Amino acid sequence: MTGVANQRMSVLFVCLGNICRSPMAEGAFRAAAHHAGLDCIVDSAGTASYHLGDAPDHRAIAVARAHGIEIGGQAARQIKVQDFHRFDHIIAMDSANLEGIKARAPRDGTARISMLFDAVAGREGVSVPDPYHGTADDFSNTWIEINEGVTGLVQQLRAEIAGLMR
Ligand code: 4NP
Repeated sequence: MTGVANQRMSVLFVCLGNICRSPMAEGAFRAAAHHAGLDCIVDSAGTASYHLGDAPDHRAIAVARAHGIEIGGQAARQIKVQDFHRFDHIIAMDSANLEGIKARAPRDGTARISMLFDAVAGREGVSVPDPYHGTADDFSNTWIEINEGVTGLVQQLRAEIAGLMR
């Protein structure tokens, strides 16, 4: 699949466990992309294998649900080599995830690898806070942060697609 051929972008969000930040990013981005009329394939994964097959953390499900977005059907998985060929963009939640992703990238991988906040002017390189050991308030704060990043990413992808169609 390639965004160039059909303007359909594919995006993989990656955190450590794939039960908190990247599931929230997957849900938030899917809703924002739909709202913006962007046709995207969206998924998420973790660099670690601690939670394979698990649903998102109940606190992540709750904060997404409070904003009208359902993420409870997701199941955690680990990033795999094929992801570097299948997705146009692989988006890391924090700098440690970024290093973990790059360490797994095959030489001939085609996905563009970046951090979520690289899509927000002035916040490039900033990590999304990990709420796993925190409180419900930390999950609310992370939700806000993720939505700021997702808004920037939608704008970036719209500009990319406009450039491809020119
Ligand atoms: P996530 O959060 O990477 O945002 O899904 C975490 C989930 C689990 C663990 C750490 C962070 N853990 O250590 O099990």
